[in-house]
Amino acid sequence: MPRKLIAANWKENPRSKKLAFDLFRAVAKVKTGPVEVAVCPPFIYLEGIAELRRRMLAKRVSLGAQDVFWEERGPYTSEIGPKMLKSLGVKYIIVGHSERRKWMKETDRMVNKKIKLALADGLRVILCVGEPLAARKKGIAAARRFIERQLKKDIAGVRGGGNIVVAYEPIWAIGTGRNDRPEDARDMASFIKGFVKMSHHFSPRVLYGGSVNSRNVADYIQWKEVDGALVGGASQNAVEFKKIINHAKHANIK
Ligand code: PGA
Repeated sequence: MPRKLIAANWKENPRSKKLAFDLFRAVAKVKTGPVEVAVCPPFIYLEGIAELRRRMLAKRVSLGAQDVFWEERGPYTSEIGPKMLKSLGVKYIIVGHSERRKWMKETDRMVNKKIKLALADGLRVILCVGEPLAARKKGIAAARRFIERQLKKDIAGVRGGGNIVVAYEPIWAIGTGRNDRPEDARDMASFIKGFVKMSHHFSPRVLYGGSVNSRNVADYIQWKEVDGALVGGASQNAVEFKKIINHAKHANIK
């Protein structure tokens, strides 16, 4: 059974370098046991946190970035390429988060290009997929069709998928305090694994994301089909995030 992965997506938080360092320090002190923990701060804090991580000998907390560009280098103002991130010690890259798809109009084609280059550079990708409320309201079958369409485009032509993690994050559950039913999340995780296995001949790890906190994380990661969680809001509070990691450490897997 693969280790459970608990990934913190800090998004555009916290508001100062000092607060970012404080938060990382607190996370780095948590005894993670068999759980893999990844922290994805804003780009601006990455180098400092990479340094801090080295000084704290906190290798067991992996570093992640929240996005990447699809070209290595060149005239692309403000963009950041995978090799740059790798040179800081970054291991994971979140790609295709619904907030980027919404606010930055990221398309599946852009997501696909980002995944290909990040994988080629030896980084691990956390690919976010998730259906909007309108699709889910039509039922589970419609939600699955949405996810299948998204996956097909996002991983078109991608080979060697051992480094791909898929985060299933129903859009209506992100930052809303609404949660998917744990059984439905399990079934979607299993559907995603089955679909990717059939179409691409590999079986990705699948995380659940969307208003995960210390009170509900165990309900999701208890399933063997769910390999961990992508945590937004609740990862901003060190005490809360520590509780989430502890639940993952002591999960009774079904
Ligand atoms: P949330 O965010 O935990 O605040 O819902 C999760 C995510 O967007 O990755």
